Amino acid sequence: VLEQKDAAEAARCPHAASRAPTLDAIPGPTNWPLVGSLFELLRKGGLRRQHEALVDYHKKFGKIFRLKLGSFESVHIGSPCLLEALYRKEGNYPQRLEIKPWTAYRDLRDEAYGLLILEGKDWQRVRSAFQQKLMKPTEVVKLDRKINEVLVDFVGRIGKINAGGKIEDLYFELNKWSFETICLVLYDKRFGLLQEKVNEEAMNFIMAVKTMMSTFGMMMVTPVELHKSFNTRSWKDHTAAWDRIFSTAKVYIDKKLKRNAIRAPDDLIGDILHQSDLSKKELYAAITELQIGGVETTANSMLWAIFNLSRNPAAQRNLLEEIREVVAPDQDPCGEHIKSMPYLKACLKESMRLSPSVPFTSRTLDKDTVLGDYAIPKGTVLMINSHALGSNEEYFDEGKQFKPERWLRENCTANPFAHVPFGIGKRMCIGRRLAELQLQLAMCWASYSTLLDIVTERRYLCCHGP
Ligand code: HEM
Repeated sequence: VLEQKDAAEAARCPHAASRAPTLDAIPGPTNWPLVGSLFELLRKGGLRRQHEALVDYHKKFGKIFRLKLGSFESVHIGSPCLLEALYRKEGNYPQRLEIKPWTAYRDLRDEAYGLLILEGKDWQRVRSAFQQKLMKPTEVVKLDRKINEVLVDFVGRIGKINAGGKIEDLYFELNKWSFETICLVLYDKRFGLLQEKVNEEAMNFIMAVKTMMSTFGMMMVTPVELHKSFNTRSWKDHTAAWDRIFSTAKVYIDKKLKRNAIRAPDDLIGDILHQSDLSKKELYAAITELQIGGVETTANSMLWAIFNLSRNPAAQRNLLEEIREVVAPDQDPCGEHIKSMPYLKACLKESMRLSPSVPFTSRTLDKDTVLGDYAIPKGTVLMINSHALGSNEEYFDEGKQFKPERWLRENCTANPFAHVPFGIGKRMCIGRRLAELQLQLAMCWASYSTLLDIVTERRYLCCHGP
């Protein structure tokens, strides 16, 4: 039906595909030979402040612009109507930009791809094995006990290391919390990262994820084949980190599979493993990537939620009031309570609008597509700028203010395509429900504890946001 609608729209459209201006007509910063706009972006603060540069470019060039960095060209989208158009034209297997250092490692070691890097029918097969349970709120809510188990330890640890209102490295503490939680959910295993003395295996595991994440960026902007041929430091560290991640994850996936073989699965991941007909190799890759996808994203979102709430005492008071109304003094907050907490949900949504932990995602067009005024050829990489969308005053009144009230039903006028911190369509974040529950429960615990009183200095906050 949608395809018929699109065809009718295209026929009515004054710029029907063949007549619409193509890529070359899309505005953008000066494209210098060989380097494109790389130096201009570096002058604007480099890759770490790239989300801000993108906001500036949208202000200058409008809803859509074209950017070339070295040989990498992309078209940036920063308006809900273009995003909606893209969503309506989405095919069965939407593609993201390939993460070449990851695929190169898997090919080297003959490992499978997980959801972050799979494409086509294989992506759909693995996605549907996980989707039904992981995206279903009634299934995910059952994880609240595990999430709370880790939160009790996290709050205890913060109480211990809080030195007169200061925490040495809050971001690392939050990474340990999110890592511990996702491991408990995926492997049913506590790694003990929140204990005073962290065991070596757990520390090596989390450091390997950190190294893997910090080494792939460089190989995204320079050819990974060169790094591989010259066995550069980045390539060596990257492969060693993946080796450790895979070898550790495999041990715990195998243990879980073994448990499943002798008794009926009793949790969400156990059920998924039990019901899926994916090969062991596919399960290793899929579970490992779920773990990778769920650590920094969640830790960073929580850091920003703490930051935004700590700067807005009125919102903090309202939140605490709501929590006290819903959760009895002798109870721990749980998934059922969250259902009756609209203000809490609004606080998280507002924090993710102002400071999304993933400021953009991408799509590689699998067919020629007319977007707005332009005919964009198959193969073009589109960047969906969620940070630029969320901070645009055109779509959000007083967009620089933290105003959870804007999301409460009677006030809400927001276009759903202007708020996409988890991406859109069939390839949207598969961990969204889990991340939301984890963050919402963490915000409850944080409201009770001293966490929000901590002087949250900017240096604890990593790259994106105000
Ligand atoms: C994909 C954000 C938590 C696993 C994505 C995407 C975004 C995102 C923007 C790309 C979506 C698109 O291209 O449309 C976030 C944020 C999180 C979070 C902001 C936390 C606040 C998680 C968690 C998990 C996870 C907890 C694991 C349980 C994944 C996976 C994908 C993905 C596997 C790839 C999905 C696919 O391509 O089919 N996430 N994510 N994420 N995320 Fe998350």
